[in-house]
Amino acid sequence: MAKRVLTTESGAPVADNQNSATAGVGGPILLQDQHLLEKLARFNRERIPERVVHARGSGAYGYFEVTDDVTGFTRADFLSEVGKRTETFIRFSTVADSLGGADAVRDPRGFALKFYTNEGNYDLVGNNTPVFFIKDPIKFPDFIHSQKRDPFTGKQEPDNVWDFWGHSPEATHQVTWLMGDRGIPASYRHMNGYGSHTYQWTNAEGEAFFVKYHFKTNQGVRSLSADQAAELVGKDANSHQTDLLQAIERGVNPSWTLHVQVMPAPDAADYRFNPFDLTKVWPHADYPLQRVGRLVLDRNPDNVFAEVEQAAFSPNNFVPGIGPSPDKMLQGRLFAYADAHRYRLGVNHTQLPVNAPKAAEADNYGRDGVHATRYGSRHDKNYEPNSYAGPAQTDAALGAPLAIHGWTGTYETAAHAKDDHFFQAGELFRLMSEEEKGRLVANIAGGLSQVTRDDVIEKNLAHFHAADTDYGKRVEEAVRALRED
Ligand code: HEM
Repeated sequence: MAKRVLTTESGAPVADNQNSATAGVGGPILLQDQHLLEKLARFNRERIPERVVHARGSGAYGYFEVTDDVTGFTRADFLSEVGKRTETFIRFSTVADSLGGADAVRDPRGFALKFYTNEGNYDLVGNNTPVFFIKDPIKFPDFIHSQKRDPFTGKQEPDNVWDFWGHSPEATHQVTWLMGDRGIPASYRHMNGYGSHTYQWTNAEGEAFFVKYHFKTNQGVRSLSADQAAELVGKDANSHQTDLLQAIERGVNPSWTLHVQVMPAPDAADYRFNPFDLTKVWPHADYPLQRVGRLVLDRNPDNVFAEVEQAAFSPNNFVPGIGPSPDKMLQGRLFAYADAHRYRLGVNHTQLPVNAPKAAEADNYGRDGVHATRYGSRHDKNYEPNSYAGPAQTDAALGAPLAIHGWTGTYETAAHAKDDHFFQAGELFRLMSEEEKGRLVANIAGGLSQVTRDDVIEKNLAHFHAADTDYGKRVEEAVRALRED
């Protein structure tokens, strides 16, 4: 094999990569040492801003294969035929900690999936939890501030975490989920993924449906207890990354089965709770799981920075036949992600290989900006409409329209007949075995008992009492016992 020559960024050969050029032996360094200057300057610029949330993650390529006919519900082309395969990229993540944090912590996990479809990239940016803590995006920055490091102490503070939850009764369901057995997945392979929000599907006849996505792990759900996790973090802070990387390198390709719950659009208005409320699940008895296909991960990225750190997922990357619901949280996210990417990666982040369409081509009049690499051919016009056969709109609606009534204003999420903040938290608690209830209560009490203000503790206890009398009583007793210690 020909010997590879070390070069500068401009391709010139480097004579010495061990000693910098000096004015005589032992003299000061010369400004003319281009290789040294370039090497140091380049090194200074290696880091980009980490994601404001979900900073720490792991990624893998794979494919999605349709196993069941869902054409009655959506006209999305990548779901149009049993057996059809679409290339994918997934990024799993923790939420609260920064890039250097540990994997085996109690935190939701991100489950961000990019389908490189022949109608453009479809991003489904979900979590491993079917619900979320809040239901209005205006609260998201406050929520995240309360969960990340305190600006004064520089670390996560139980006072802040529980103060926010104490003010957010709608978080009780997700808090119950997070403090329960699934709160610390054993690995990224051993957890389910959920779209969490309600999305809209539209079929070829223009009929609308509301859907929720469930990716069930075929590896089985496995979780860690708080003690097991603490031990693992000490041994390998990168345990989830290690597990995913090694599994795929060994050819043990993890897979998930995708199911959807499908609600005919006319059901939404009178459903007993608001079907667009992200703090609620739809009971399977109302809308059973229907199988769609299989996600398989079979290739590790070659370069973590280029492909995982630079990956950009946006909930507003839809394809025809799939679109948003009026869920306010989702609507907020439709703005937030691409905006974050423009800050974190620049306006041309969609041209990076991991983010660019693979089975379709981006063809539009967006031009220039920092690091532009896509610019069409020399005769392409950069305005539209034009007389030169440039790309033109299709006039085909991407989804069915949503009927809207009422006046503009700042409203709470509309409550339906059976809506309250607590009943599904109570249902989840009552579903748990006696042992799991014990662990849930111990996990909650472990955090809540560290809170310094009694009024914050009381606010949180009131939520558990409202969810279920036994739940409230047990958390209260456990917190009291720990505080009296
Ligand atoms: C209004 C609520 C929310 C806002 C404003 C928000 C905002 C953000 C932002 C700014 C990022 C960083 C994006 C980047 O720099 O690439 C992010 C990442 C992420 N968010 Fe959210 N988020 C919200 C709620 C949610 C919910 C409800 C879910 C799950 C159902 C979710 C899942 C994720 C995931 C998985 C990532 C990481 C994506 C990746 O791997 O690159 N977020 N979010």
